[in-house]
Formats: sequence, C-alpha cells, structure tokens
Amino acid sequence: MSIERTFAMVKPDGVRRGLVGEIVSRFEQKGFKIIALKMMTASPELVGEHYAEHRERPFFGGLVSFLSGGPVVAMCVEGEQVVSEWRRMMGATRPWDSAPGTIRFEFATTVDENVVHGSDSADSAARELGLWFKGEL
Ligand code: RTP
Ligand code: MG
Repeated sequence: MSIERTFAMVKPDGVRRGLVGEIVSRFEQKGFKIIALKMMTASPELVGEHYAEHRERPFFGGLVSFLSGGPVVAMCVEGEQVVSEWRRMMGATRPWDSAPGTIRFEFATTVDENVVHGSDSADSAARELGLWFKGEL
C-alpha cells in the first residue's frame, strides 16, 4: 500500500461553468478521500509560486492572470497512488491529446482553460499542498 496525498484544483473556468460538483463526484465515485477543500481567489503571487517551473515560458503571464482571475476550488486528496491516478483521471494537458472519459476530454477544448490541475509528482504535491494549505492540514 502506498497512501499518498495530492494537490488538486478546479480552475476558474471549471468553477465558472458549474463543474465543481462533477469534479468532486469523480473523486468520491473513485473512492479517494477528500482531506480538505476550499473555494478561494488566489493572488498572482501565489499562482506565480505555484507555476514557478513555467516562469520563463511565453504563456506564463496569461496563465497567472487566468488562474488568479476568479475563484478556484483547492483540494487535498488522499489515496493509493493518487498523484498519478488523478493525473490519469484529468487527462493530458492538451484536451485533444486526452483519452475519452477523462475530465479534459469531456469538458475542455483549449490548453489555456483545461478545467483542472493536479500535482505531477509526490515532490510537487508536497510543495503545492504547503503553498495552498499552509498550516491547515
Ligand atoms: P497543470 O499544471 O495546470 O495541472 O497542467 P499540466 O501539468 O497538465 O501542464 P503544465 O505543463 O504543468 O502546464 C501548466 C498549464 O500551463 C498551460 N499551458 N499552456 N500554450 C501552451 O503551450 C501551454 N502549455 C501549458 C496549461 O493551461 C497547463 O495546464
Ligand atoms: Mg503541471
């Protein structure tokens, strides 16, 4: 057994489109445990820290304004292999590369607004949970 925690988020497009229930349901149906969940509007500073690895990329500015431009739902989710499993449930970054049945396939058409986030490794999960749930877990 390898019980892990990951950082998951419904991005502003997902909140705006009323997809929070759908995304939360997927965790519940799968059987992963939601440890913490909150709706918040993130500051550009927090989002910049969150996506620090992309700081030099041409899309960084747009990504930060999009993510800090409206409420998101931030979650800590626990379960066996949840870091990689949540990435599989989300689907590929580019919705047209994602498999049918995944969230990005079902609910997104663009790379800029792709509904959900998930940590890409155990190290990223620990770092991101520390940023978004500082002192709260
Ligand atoms: P995320 O971090 O949001 O869960 O997405 P990801 O791991 O699947 O993809 P990542 O490479 O970490 O990129 C973060 C977000 O930046 C936007 N992006 N735009 N225009 C582009 O080529 C491009 N590449 C990435 C996406 O919104 C992606 O989710
Ligand atoms: Mg990423």
